[in-house]
Amino acid sequence: MAALRAVVAAGGGRGILNAAKCAPGHRANMSSVSLARGRKAALAALGVAAAGGAGLALLLHQSVKASELELHPPSYPWSHGGMLSALDHASVRRGYQVYKQVCSACHSMEYLAFRNLVGVSHTESEVKVLAEEIEVVDGPDESGEMFTRPGKLSDYFPKPYPNPEAARAANNGALPPDLSYIVNARHGGEDYVFSLLTGYCDPPPGVSVREGLYYNPYFPGQAIGMAPPIYNEVLEYEDGTPATMSQVAKDVCTFLRWAAEPEHDQRKRMGLKLLLGASVLIPLIYYMKRHKWSVLKSRKIAYRPPK
Ligand code: HEC
Repeated sequence: MAALRAVVAAGGGRGILNAAKCAPGHRANMSSVSLARGRKAALAALGVAAAGGAGLALLLHQSVKASELELHPPSYPWSHGGMLSALDHASVRRGYQVYKQVCSACHSMEYLAFRNLVGVSHTESEVKVLAEEIEVVDGPDESGEMFTRPGKLSDYFPKPYPNPEAARAANNGALPPDLSYIVNARHGGEDYVFSLLTGYCDPPPGVSVREGLYYNPYFPGQAIGMAPPIYNEVLEYEDGTPATMSQVAKDVCTFLRWAAEPEHDQRKRMGLKLLLGASVLIPLIYYMKRHKWSVLKSRKIAYRPPK
């Protein structure tokens, strides 16, 4: 027993380790390594074959996908695109105006209430005025009757159609989707919606679209049931910004990004704080770990055979 001694070697210097004395175990290990060489080669060959097979399967799968025929939207330099960029709230405000005056004729935004706009694009008193423009069916009152009243901050945005069937009936059978989360619900997000809104063009020679459909190269299938909703000067902005087609599309997309992700600005601010905090804390914790473990890590245990 006394033969087994723990020797703390200062700084890992002179360890009294005699490897040759405990060789048998070592040698057994060495031979097992050389034996496995054949198996390793077989495994490697299997790996290469499997990867090749998977790659081939992927290629075959992609070559028959029709989605390659549609035009992918380019990625636009959004003012809120950067890691630390907030939404342009003046743009969100104009975008709401576009939604209200153009898109809301066909599209609902059923997850947004007027109160959501407060402090984002409008002041509380402005939103109250906006809400009061609509009529809401409420009730029942004391006599059991439903009644209408002006909208309040807590009311949700009004829907253009009472139900999806009515919406389809009014749009040649196509259902205008709810826009609350549309930029998250489509590949390409706001790049896609921007391209869709500004991308209407004449069909190429040899392509004809059915009556009531419109040619749009960004829409999967290229024939969309939505007539081009915006054009230059489709509305007049209350802040005097020239309402060109691309300006209108950009503003409504910024508004839709905010609608789908109201926590956008908060998320980026939290991310910055987290990175700053972590850049201090992680080195500190690493240093403390090295410090606490230094005694154990620089210790060597050696076997001293009895003389
Ligand atoms: C006249 C009615 C009408 C107006 C106004 C309108 N849309 Fe549409 N929209 C539709 C219809 C109908 C569809 C469904 C098209 C389809 O599925 O073929 C649609 C589809 C969409 C889609 C989904 C496309 C997809 O990938 O499925 C988006 C996004 C969209 N509209 C955005 C807008 C925006 C933004 C506005 C306002 C600038 C707007 N729309 C104004 C009728 C309208």
